[in-house]
Amino acid sequence: MITDTPSSAPVFNRKNPLLAKLARRQLLTVGCEEKETWHFELELLGSGMEFLPGDSLAVFPQNDPDLVADILGALHLTGDEVVTDPNGVEMPIRQALIESCSITAPDKKFLNKLVEKAGDTATDIARLLQPDHKDALTHFLWGREIVDCLLQFPSLVWEPQEFVDILKKLNVRLYSIASSLAANPDQCHLTVALVQYESHGRLRQGVCSSWLARRAEEETPVPCFITPGKGFRLPEPDEDVPIIMVGPGTGIAPFRAFLQHRQATKAKGKAWLFFGEIHSDSCYFYADEWDSYLEDGTLDRVTTAWSRDQAEKIYVQHKITENGADLWEWLEEGAIVYVCGDAERMAPDVDKALHDLIAKYGEKSTEEAAAYVEQMRKDKRYRRDVY
Ligand SMILES: Cc1cc2nc3c(=O)[nH]c(=O)nc-3n(C[C@H](O)[C@H](O)[C@H](O)COP(=O)(O)OP(=O)(O)OC[C@H]3O[C@@H](n4cnc5c(N)ncnc54)[C@H](O)[C@@H]3O)c2cc1C
Ligand SMILES: NC(=O)c1ccc[n+]([C@@H]2O[C@H](COP(=O)([O-])OP(=O)(O)OC[C@H]3O[C@@H](n4cnc5c(N)ncnc54)[C@H](OP(=O)(O)O)[C@@H]3O)[C@@H](O)[C@H]2O)c1
Repeated sequence: MITDTPSSAPVFNRKNPLLAKLARRQLLTVGCEEKETWHFELELLGSGMEFLPGDSLAVFPQNDPDLVADILGALHLTGDEVVTDPNGVEMPIRQALIESCSITAPDKKFLNKLVEKAGDTATDIARLLQPDHKDALTHFLWGREIVDCLLQFPSLVWEPQEFVDILKKLNVRLYSIASSLAANPDQCHLTVALVQYESHGRLRQGVCSSWLARRAEEETPVPCFITPGKGFRLPEPDEDVPIIMVGPGTGIAPFRAFLQHRQATKAKGKAWLFFGEIHSDSCYFYADEWDSYLEDGTLDRVTTAWSRDQAEKIYVQHKITENGADLWEWLEEGAIVYVCGDAERMAPDVDKALHDLIAKYGEKSTEEAAAYVEQMRKDKRYRRDVY
């Protein structure tokens, strides 16, 4: 049996988030030039907020005040103009743009308003908004933000409320919880990769990841609530079911929660962790913890894939293929396979590697391997939490 019971009654939710204090943060990728991934610890003390391994935390972020200043400059506003924000609360527009409005990705409502106001000078954008130009619109929007569109039409006059009214509410971001209450009572840990890239001559940063990594400080209240991990659940500790966890990058987060929980509950079944990142020396998140789990038997195997330590890419699916014979044995023992992390590239590649090893070591045709995986899915033995 897999524990699918939802977390405790949702005392905290979108309308009533918990203000959890940021208690500790640590850069996990020290010495790595290519990426920044952070470990955050939120203090839940006395809140009564509960969660299970596999749950996620929804976080209400704040926008970058520097970006807000650029937008206000482009709108020719001071920031003190009072507006009603998307939640119906009156406040200065600067505060509304920092706390309540989505101010980065332009949507159709925003572009339509821009076209309406700019008239003949925005015919290119007007064309992109026609139904048969979907791909061209996506191409135009890639890496382009609201501030870029405003700067393209500097002479437009915007009423403060008119501008706020076309913006969506600033939405929550979800993060897989990286700790277990059984091991860290009253805490909730996250593993967050900073989204950062350059486009159209500007450095862009993801709203929530940069708020946590750059602007939130220790003691900053983080408004948040739990979202249950639909089916991403451990077997009961007394069940002798092996588990295989595939979690490259931030995909490792729920597996840290799993392993903390399994250690605390003295879970019986075998456990195998596949982790992948770019460099072994600077990106091996939580390596000491995995070592201690290997020592005390919480983990049986850890297999790593370092993608940029050599000329050719080595990814978790290559390690899955390399260990196909052993994995097939685990699958035949009834192992549950969990996959977490990048949905677009990693998850389909891991899926293919799984099919291939089943075909090879199970001596099955492509169709039979697909049927085997489908049966695993039906039996809840193939579980994915990908984003
Ligand atoms: C169930 C679930 C669990 C998750 N768990 C985790 C987790 O444990 N850790 C974690 O780090 N994340 C996790 N995520 C992802 C997380 O929710 C956020 O999406 C992520 O942190 C980015 O949010 P942001 O606000 O920083 O960036 P946003 O402001 O939302 O910006 C992200 C957007 O920027 C754009 N973008 C990104 N890169 C580029 C580029 N190179 N060029 C042009 N545009 C680009 C894309 O449109 C992208 O959608 C999870 C998501 C889900 C759904
Ligand atoms: N859709 C995209 O294009 C894209 C790109 C980057 C990040 N992201 C998103 O950014 C967020 C954070 O990412 P992250 O830092 O957790 O990790 P990540 O960018 O997924 O990287 C973790 C590791 O996975 C490797 N990887 C890249 N492609 C892979 C594939 N097809 N199969 C298996 N492994 C692969 C990476 O190698 P290399 O980087 O060396 O190739 C790296 O070693 C996630 O939300 C992720 O979905 C998306």
